Amino acid sequence: MDLRRKIKKIVAIFYFSPRGRKIRDAWEYVQRMRMDPTLVSNKRRMRKMKGNLRELVEIMTETLAERYENRKTYELKLKKILYNPMKSRKDSIHDPKVLEMIRIGFERMEQSQDPCHDISHVYRCIRIAKLYFSFFRLKRRLDWGAMVLALAWHDISRADDPGLIYRSKILKPLESLPWVVDLSLILNGMSDAERSYKIFKQEAEQIGLSEAIKCLVEVGILATSTNRQTREWIKKAGLSCKIISDIDALDMCTIGRFEAALKNILDNKMASIKYFNRMNLLGSYVVKRFQNKWELKCSNQFYDFFSVNLEKHAYMFYPNDAEILAPN
Ligand SMILES: [Fe+2]
Repeated sequence: MDLRRKIKKIVAIFYFSPRGRKIRDAWEYVQRMRMDPTLVSNKRRMRKMKGNLRELVEIMTETLAERYENRKTYELKLKKILYNPMKSRKDSIHDPKVLEMIRIGFERMEQSQDPCHDISHVYRCIRIAKLYFSFFRLKRRLDWGAMVLALAWHDISRADDPGLIYRSKILKPLESLPWVVDLSLILNGMSDAERSYKIFKQEAEQIGLSEAIKCLVEVGILATSTNRQTREWIKKAGLSCKIISDIDALDMCTIGRFEAALKNILDNKMASIKYFNRMNLLGSYVVKRFQNKWELKCSNQFYDFFSVNLEKHAYMFYPNDAEILAPN
């Protein structure tokens, strides 16, 4: 990072109010990219995935902004998302109770009041998980149903609780104090997985989910924790925990996450643009922590592809943000 960018980043901790955002142009470009995936950068890195470039671009730019316009397309998309890549009849994805829990998780996440943790985050994660299964031919026996369920519920605590100052209208004016927003974001990030785990546990007991699946999902949810001890534990955990841990972090580097959060703020009024600015700033520090520290080697390829395209997108349409948030 050059000195100028370093100084800008330090100044941003105290004051960060980017200008010159070309939001409409960015959105149009995202739509164009979805129609013509060859517009993306860093294609060579994804040579192995050549045939699936369209799928990859679709995932990377997914915001689900169109889902209310066409219910039929949405239902089809959902079917595609849930389709089991393991193709095993024994998989828990065929268990009606698992499907019911997935449906409840999706429904709650559709109502999420957290701009960055909406249903599109869950769908992107599930679709990235599927890429791990198919592109890297992970042949070891993994339960797809448990993985989808863990991803559907891993941010459930955020759906009802977007953070300290967003819990009541009285506290919301505190949003004008940047460090209070930071504190709210950090506190939520430190406890979301543990709270989601508790919420899931309660609901799973009520539905009567089998003990084996419940355990798989619970450790899957905890795999997204930022707690240092839990992170150490993931290193010894099974493959599905490592996949979940990596893809939850990888999603932070997607254009879809960035654009969906902005849409949730501007169109759905979930928070103000001040929240978006602070989230970008904090996000840039968090993403740095993950660089080259992935649980799985293959995550590096996804990271390179997503982050280079996010950086390019930011430089094209969000020049002030780019200097702060671009992970590379
Ligand atoms: Fe997440």
